[in-house]
Amino acid sequence: MITLGIETSCDETSVAVLDGTGVLSNVIYSQLFHSEYGGVVPEVASREHLKKIVSLTELALKKAGKTKKDIELVAATAGPGLIGALLTGLNFGKSVSASIRLPFVPVNHIAAHLYSNILEKQPLEFPFIGLIVSGGHTLIVMVREMFDHEILGSTADDAAGEAFDKAAKLLGLGYPGGQLIDKYAKEGNEDYHKFPLSKIKDGKYDFSFSGIKTSLRYFLEKINFDNNMEQQLVYDICASYQRAIIESLFLKTFNAAKDFNVKRISISGGVSANSLLRKKFDDLKAVGFEIYYPRAEYSTDNAAMVALTGYLEYKHSENKQYYLSDSLKENAFARLDYENF
Ligand code: KG4
Ligand code: ZN
Repeated sequence: MITLGIETSCDETSVAVLDGTGVLSNVIYSQLFHSEYGGVVPEVASREHLKKIVSLTELALKKAGKTKKDIELVAATAGPGLIGALLTGLNFGKSVSASIRLPFVPVNHIAAHLYSNILEKQPLEFPFIGLIVSGGHTLIVMVREMFDHEILGSTADDAAGEAFDKAAKLLGLGYPGGQLIDKYAKEGNEDYHKFPLSKIKDGKYDFSFSGIKTSLRYFLEKINFDNNMEQQLVYDICASYQRAIIESLFLKTFNAAKDFNVKRISISGGVSANSLLRKKFDDLKAVGFEIYYPRAEYSTDNAAMVALTGYLEYKHSENKQYYLSDSLKENAFARLDYENF
């Protein structure tokens, strides 16, 4: 089955073509200019998606060696994300499906990150513990079977990637900052300073990352930090800050795996690229764990994971008729509780 996937939930415009679960093409346009503003400007992002979506779809089809006539299913991210940005891709996808009378599947962006590792390992076996860590989300999920998942924990405030990005901004490093903090941390001393993480009262697997950013801000004020200070100091701060975030992600995920007696962990989202995170989880392989990460192109926002999740959802659905020509009716969206995942 040839699936056309569309992703426009934030600042990446992406279109992919899949044959079953195999990726034929996955084109991604990253709106890098947002870095000038220190974060994504929603209205600007939506307009840019609109400008790029048609040419990227043509490119994705060309790279896949397919034409519009070959498409059998259309899937687009329906939420969560920036509303204007989402609407661009969602309506484009709905229009493509309506114009060539194809089934259309609205896809939950978090589910797409969760299943993205199926693009790497087929089949990814169940059950597994999923850790989704991106610029917008931090969740631990127990996945018993395909589309049978329970959210064990999430963040009370900032996402892990956001905590990296905000720290990078305070340190004057630029946006997005996760990759830079990771790079600088390699040269630094992680014992330089202990950054505390806020304790979450009830949720055993829940996170809170806004306190650590505030404690960094106070710390920088205390040492009268400015951009002309010694480079080694920046390295040491990056290493200490990164350790606090990654230890929290690691420990809670490991505890969930122990509590649910699952030795398979799948990590996805942009922060899954972090080298300390990978090292800590990879160490678990020595005690019999299977650990999965997506390759770089499937870890940040991309349409391949959206097409895959739409295809799996369609295949999994008992009522395929439902997605057919009725797909433009409002009730097609009511059925999928994508906001609450
Ligand atoms: O999955 P993604 O594209 O965003 C959302 O869907 O929200 O992930 C982007 C996030 C950014 O916050 C970025 O700073 C972070 O992933 N990131 C990293 C690394 N590479 C990207 N964070 C820590 N270490 C990295 N190596
Ligand atoms: Zn994402």
